[in-house]
Amino acid sequence: MKRKPLLWILCLWIAPQLYAQQATIVQIETKSNSLIFKSDENKRLRTIYFGKKLQNKEEAKWIPTPSKSTDDNSGICNAVYTPSGSWSMFEPAINITHADGNISTELLFQSAQEQKESENVSLTTILLKDPVYQTEVRLFYKTYIQEDVIEQWTEIKNLEKGTITLQKYASANLYLNAEKFYLTNYYGNWAQEMRPKEMELTGGIKVLDSKLGTRTNLFEPPTFTIALNKASAEDEGEVLLGNLGWSGNFKIEFEVDPLHNLRLIAGINPHASAYPLASNASFKTPSLIYTLSQHGKGLASRNFHNWARKYRILDGTGDRLTLLNNWEATYFDFDQNKLTNLFKDGKKLGVDMFLLDDGWFANKYPRNGDNAGLGDWEENRKKLPDGLGYLIKEAQNTGIKFGIWLEPEMVNPKSELYEKHPDWVVKQVQRPEHYFRNQLVLDLANPKVQDYVFGVVDNLFTKNPALAFIKWDCNAVIFNANSAFLQSQGQSQSRFYVDYIRGLYSVLERIRAKYPKVPMMLCSGGGGRVDYEALKYFTEFWPSDNTEPLERIFIQWNYSYYFPAIATCNHVTDWGKQPLKFRIDVAMMGKMGFDIVVEHLNAEELQFAQTAIQNYNKLKPAILQGDQYRLVDPYTHDFASLMYVSTDKNQAVMFNYLVSNRYESTASPKPVVLKGLDPNKKYRIQEINLFGNKKSSLNSNTEYSGSYLMTVGYNPEVNSGRSSVILEIGAVK
Ligand code: DGJ
Repeated sequence: MKRKPLLWILCLWIAPQLYAQQATIVQIETKSNSLIFKSDENKRLRTIYFGKKLQNKEEAKWIPTPSKSTDDNSGICNAVYTPSGSWSMFEPAINITHADGNISTELLFQSAQEQKESENVSLTTILLKDPVYQTEVRLFYKTYIQEDVIEQWTEIKNLEKGTITLQKYASANLYLNAEKFYLTNYYGNWAQEMRPKEMELTGGIKVLDSKLGTRTNLFEPPTFTIALNKASAEDEGEVLLGNLGWSGNFKIEFEVDPLHNLRLIAGINPHASAYPLASNASFKTPSLIYTLSQHGKGLASRNFHNWARKYRILDGTGDRLTLLNNWEATYFDFDQNKLTNLFKDGKKLGVDMFLLDDGWFANKYPRNGDNAGLGDWEENRKKLPDGLGYLIKEAQNTGIKFGIWLEPEMVNPKSELYEKHPDWVVKQVQRPEHYFRNQLVLDLANPKVQDYVFGVVDNLFTKNPALAFIKWDCNAVIFNANSAFLQSQGQSQSRFYVDYIRGLYSVLERIRAKYPKVPMMLCSGGGGRVDYEALKYFTEFWPSDNTEPLERIFIQWNYSYYFPAIATCNHVTDWGKQPLKFRIDVAMMGKMGFDIVVEHLNAEELQFAQTAIQNYNKLKPAILQGDQYRLVDPYTHDFASLMYVSTDKNQAVMFNYLVSNRYESTASPKPVVLKGLDPNKKYRIQEINLFGNKKSSLNSNTEYSGSYLMTVGYNPEVNSGRSSVILEIGAVK
């Protein structure tokens, strides 16, 4: 009895020592950040740090785990991948029904390995295992060191004898430590994409999700910003930008836990998606892609852009084609002659390509409106008696390339495809059909449908090898989710949402294996599908059908936090009341195109458009491949200002747009401080895109140092008479 206190003291002293010896620390690093995990005395792996990089790696062992994060606190809030049904009461990352019906899972740390894939890319794999059930979970962290980007996904392996069911299977479970958390998420609808809202997160869970099946970003995208401690700012403060690379239903949960830290769980939406996993099979989740910056959203977005161009977007470091699209110019009302005249208009304008939109196909039920023909991808003989081959030749003879619109995942009930293959259509036979834009979705979970969709694209290219571009549209959401194919295979319907998207990716994979380079635009009735998995297969995306230029400034501004200009298609149309110069100036800040009736332009407008395209072509290295800097925020000012700087810092372009028509003598009363230039270089500034014989009020003879422009700044003199001002900034050689 007497000895007991001593024994206790000894135990208290030994236990932490032993633990200190056993505890494994896993450090994942990028150029500026460290993500650090530590296993506890029970081999549960926890996130102990995510933030600015530690100068001395070995000091990680001193990082304290958040207080009270022990079992008696109802689970461990900072688990790297929170299991459910056992000791953790927090929102789980994974929830499994085991082969015997048991619903508990525990995950213990086994090992961590880092593999260098290149000078800049490393892959860390962490293995976790359930000590009772034969479940293995591997967490993957791919780091892109210079870009400060982490791509994280998970693989779940079933080594049990029977099938298990994955009820929830997140891609990532992050843990962030700060006093306060501010979430910016985006909401909207058709033509209202990317409306931002920033708010402080309070206790409880805030969820971003979609259950739409396809066109899943219609109401909100899987894209977000978290600012730590204070609301997000352009050039200061710690912010995390993220996007879930998944084009299907998603769920992203932000939980401020009882310790006032942030648990972030992102992945496929478990809604109606319990996924059976056969013995020995693995399930790979999509990736959560994120970047953490200690210098605000500006740096974070440039890191995202650099990463996306180099590692993700198809041909991200290549060039892009300017184009003339006929959607708003003709809608469904065109024929061969009208089109060949449009080719000439495109040539006259000076664009690289003509893009033929919806309405060129189907014969039994001609596509003369959006109520018929989808699925029947043969040229409409009345409109195009000589076929696409003839059109492509004519375009080539005129000196421009030819691209085409497709919506291969969809079908109108009024179509031959529907008549032939009703079982290829997603529907519930016992319920009335319910349409979105008069159409239904094809069952891409069915390999035959995948072959068919691949065949649509393959046939087009086989018959028309000179086809230069595809706009891939997707207008409907999935109502009455049900797959006749899964039913015929005796498979569970709850795998449908996942299998659909996997089917889509597998088709895109096949297309890219055979046609690796052809540029394709990702479109979904506007920006209904914009994510970093789909963009592996696409060179660009269509942000919104809303092309009213004032609206566009805001839409493009918000996309620009996550996606680079090279991928963001901006078309000049007749939406709104703004003059042509304003419309073109706005479209120029991304991948520029036109969707207007060129014939309606007067001589002065035509000449302006032609010169603007030439200016654009000259400035492409800065706009498409350079660094983007947001200078003046249109949400807090009467004008927007942003600039792009080429990587060698010799060429830059500054875009300025008036966004308010309230009475102001000058909207930009003082100089705007520029960013991203070389302080030691001299620059000359010249206003371009001047309409007609307008003269610029700005002096273009002065040579300013980059340092001066980034300290004092330069006034673009935006006002109601100069509602858009584009400045070309060139280093003096
Ligand atoms: C929706 C797209 O967003 C538009 O640009 C256009 O291609 C139409 N579909 C065609 O139906």
